[in-house]
Amino acid sequence: MPETKKRIGILISGRGSNMLALADAVRDGRIPDADIALVISNVADAAGLTKAAARGIAIITLDHRGKTHEQHDQAMAAALREARVDVVCLAGYMRLLSPWFTNEFKGRVLNIHPSLLPAFPGLHGARDALSYGVKFTGCTVHLVDEHLDHGPILKQAVVPVFSNDTEDSLSARILVEEHRIYAEAVAMLLHSDWRIEGRSFK
Ligand code: GRF
Repeated sequence: MPETKKRIGILISGRGSNMLALADAVRDGRIPDADIALVISNVADAAGLTKAAARGIAIITLDHRGKTHEQHDQAMAAALREARVDVVCLAGYMRLLSPWFTNEFKGRVLNIHPSLLPAFPGLHGARDALSYGVKFTGCTVHLVDEHLDHGPILKQAVVPVFSNDTEDSLSARILVEEHRIYAEAVAMLLHSDWRIEGRSFK
């Protein structure tokens, strides 16, 4: 029987709230006709791993230590291929992917970032937005290429910055939108007709 459901692989390093949001969206049919095929963590005690396992999702840990960057990415690619994934979602995966990996899964790797790219790429999207003094920030789902927080954008959501915000309060407001647009973006990538012109999804 040909496989009809799309298979989603998720890479995490930490708490895994975006991973759970994608699992919820699959369960609720907001990402239709799909399964979470595999969650990979490079950190053995990532809280997200326990949460995924509690949902009955297949999990593996692939420790990046003691391997070259490409060796680690090749190990992940082998596991993702074995799980026959159609799309790879980075969900708080705290390592850059090698050009080898992004090329191998070209057009099939998504990332969620807590700012309105191209503003505030890097590790501290909410903190950097606060210190810059912007009045609005947000989050971005984009295709991953070989550059940091860079590929074509599928979805963005805008979040206001309040004068009494802390990094934590702003991050929490952004996170609610992350969970919403990540599921929408995955559904769009898997099930809509789209093309990329230049950097733009059409
Ligand atoms: C999120 O803010 C995401 O935008 C960023 O890393 C954080 C991961 O959080 N890439 P979680 O592990 O999904 O809860």
